[in-house]
This record gives sequence, C-alpha cells and structure tokens, in this order.
Amino acid sequence: MGFKNLHILLGVTGGIAAYKSVELLRLMKKAGANVHVAMSRAAMEFVGKTTFEVLSENPVLTDLWEDTHSSVTHIDIATSVDAVIVAPATANFIGKFAHGIADDALLTTMLAVTTPIMICPSMNTDMYQNIRVQRNLDILEQDGVHILDPDDGVLACKTVGTGRLPEPWFIFDRLDALLTQKDLAGKKILLTAGPTVEAIDPVRYVSNHSSGKMGYAVARAAERRGASVTLVSGPVSFDPPVGVEFIPVESCDQMADAVFSHLGAADIIIKVAAVADYRPIDPSTLKIKKTQDSNDLSISMTENMDILKRVGDLKTEQQFLVGFAAETNDLERHALAKIKKKNLDMIAANLVGTEDSGFKADTNKVKLFFKDGASKDIPLMDKNRVAHILLDTIIEQTG
Ligand code: PMT
Repeated sequence: MGFKNLHILLGVTGGIAAYKSVELLRLMKKAGANVHVAMSRAAMEFVGKTTFEVLSENPVLTDLWEDTHSSVTHIDIATSVDAVIVAPATANFIGKFAHGIADDALLTTMLAVTTPIMICPSMNTDMYQNIRVQRNLDILEQDGVHILDPDDGVLACKTVGTGRLPEPWFIFDRLDALLTQKDLAGKKILLTAGPTVEAIDPVRYVSNHSSGKMGYAVARAAERRGASVTLVSGPVSFDPPVGVEFIPVESCDQMADAVFSHLGAADIIIKVAAVADYRPIDPSTLKIKKTQDSNDLSISMTENMDILKRVGDLKTEQQFLVGFAAETNDLERHALAKIKKKNLDMIAANLVGTEDSGFKADTNKVKLFFKDGASKDIPLMDKNRVAHILLDTIIEQTG
C-alpha cells in the first residue's frame, strides 16, 4: 500500500539493537511516512534523542512531563497514528505492555492506540525463551498485537541463538505487509519471472536481459495483499520477496516442470518471465574450444516449449491467465494476437528497447489488453506501482 502520508509511531526501547531503529526510521521517512518517535529512558542510553529528532523532523516523546507540546501530546499522537512499530522491544517493555502498565511516555501512549501494533522482541536467547517472556508475548498476540519473531545469530552478549532484531528492511517490509489491505486473501497465484538460461556448454549459455524486477514486484505486491504466491524464477541478482514459495530454475524445461506441477492449485497464473524461445539442440558436456582452422562457429538450435500456450490449453474456466508481451513495435497487434493464440484472459504488453521501460528498468510502460479487445493504459511508472495496478485489474476482472 505504501507509506506515503501515513502517520507511524516508532517506539524504541533499551536494547543494543536500538541503532537499527534509526535505519528503520530512515526507510519509513524515505517512503513518505510522517514518523513520531517515542523512546524509553533506557533507549536513550543506546542512541541519542537528537538523532531521532533530526531524522524524523518531529519532537521525540521521552517524558510525559517534559515533552509537553500540548497538555496531552501522548493522546494526540496515539489517536493520530495509522500504526505503531516497537523495535527493539525489550523483555521489560513486553512485560509491562502485556499487563497494561503505563509508567513511561511510550507505554502510556500505546495504551491509547487503536490502530495496528507490531512489536519486534530483541534480547538474549535465554531471556527470550524464558517462560514469563513467552507468556507475555502470547498475551499480546491474543490481544491482536503482531509479533515479528527475532532472527537467529550472534547476539550482543557474544552468544549465538535466537534474539537478534531483524534487519531494518525486513521490519519495514513486514510492517508494509501488515498495513496492506488483504484483498487477495485465499487466492493462490502462480508466477514466473526473470530470464531462462539455455546451456551451450558447461560455461556458456543463451539468455536475455530480464532482471526479474517486474515479476518480483508482482510477487511482492501479491504476497502483501494476502495471496499465497508461488514464484518460479530464472536466475536473477536479488533475493526472492519475503513470504513467497520460491522455486529457482534455469532452463525453459525446468520452468515448465515447475509450472505444471503447481498449475492445478492456482487460481491466477501470471507469466512475467522472459523465456528463451530456442535452445541449443545438443549442449556440449565439455567446454567448446576455440579451433585454429575456422572463424565460424554454428550452434544448432531447437524450439522450446511455449509454456504459456500450453497453460492456456490446459486452464480451467475458474483459472485466470495473464501473459506478458515484450514488444519493440506494433504493441496492440502483437498483444491481441498473443491473447488469442495462447487463450489468455489478459496480457500486459510493455515497450522494450527504451531505457525507462521493459528489461532492467525500475519503471515500465504497460498497456493491458483483454480478450474482448478492450484495453487499459498504464502510464510510465515504478514497477511496484505497475504491479499493484495489474493486481487491481485482475481483481476487477475476476469479480
Ligand atoms: O525482468 P525485467 O528486467 O523487469 O523485465 C520485465 C520484462 C520486460 C521481461 C517483462 O515485463 C515482460 O515483458 N515479460 C515477457 C517477456 C517475453 O518473453 O515476452 P514474449 O512476447 O516473448 O512472450 C509472451 C509470453 O509468453 C510471456 O508471458 C512469456 O512468459 C510466455 N512464454 C514465451 C515463450 C515461451 N517459450 N514460453 C512462454 O511461456
């Protein structure tokens, strides 16, 4: 849904991981949120109040008696925020919050909050696993507070175990997911993304320029909107989105196997991958050597299976099938031909061959076509926004 114009309360309590909440604040600000920070007294032993004040561009709430911008600042904040995130959340904070104790500015403010709350426990492993801490976390969970489990790793006390505060980007990602409307809940989406690579020999291959950005944006958006997402992806240079079932593949044949073994369960199939149309007939098992006597090298190619067309032949009435088309010219003519040939419900045709659209770019210019000949233009925009508009349109089309 995006953080633009949202009001978020960031609670910081006294753990060594408090330094990570500075980066979390930065990420939320960069995404357009108006962030208010409330710190416990112990938190100020780890990170200075001024840092949060400067970066949030708001006064930081630390003391109910000193920070009197109005007589009820904490109530003003509590009633104006769209969500609260507490990172890191110490055992002390968790215990007090679970039992409604309000002995500092953060806890008092939080008792008046009625919007979603996420807390990120972070502490030594034995403390985290202590039955009292776990009981308090259970109470909070039953009360509807979202608990983001800590990571495993090396802790400040030099032990290795559960208790690390997750990285700021991950907390940001999960908060975004929490705040996103779950209009795809209960839907199973099968997605393909990235390029395929077809071996010539053990060190060389035929492929294309797909970075995976467009397909991963759709996977990320669908997961945040509550869908259960299976992402079949060719090789790309970044991690899969959080919360999706991820199936890495290389060749068209491997992608086809993965798609057909998950097809039956899918409600919506979206094929963003740029699949190689041809592959070397007989890839060499040894590295092909340069020859002395010829400048020419020919590689015989054979046609790959058209996975999308096969899915179009097999799909049921209940399944909604979306293809993508990468075109350099005659967008409409090619897109409409593909809808018909591959029995699609919708095709997203994008212009490729320009710097700001198609392969590798962060933005894309897409036109959606439907099988009745209608179309919808999506102007040039960030691929994450294109992904949400694509999903909005699928929801409209599937009722
Ligand atoms: O990954 P990015 O860098 O972000 O770039 C995004 C993108 C440009 C790759 C993406 O937006 C896109 O256009 N993907 C489809 C590219 C493509 O292969 O188009 P096509 O016209 O060749 O294929 C049409 C459709 O058939 C596609 O849905 C494709 O997945 C499918 N297909 C094609 C060949 C094949 N053998 N099997 C298939 O399933």
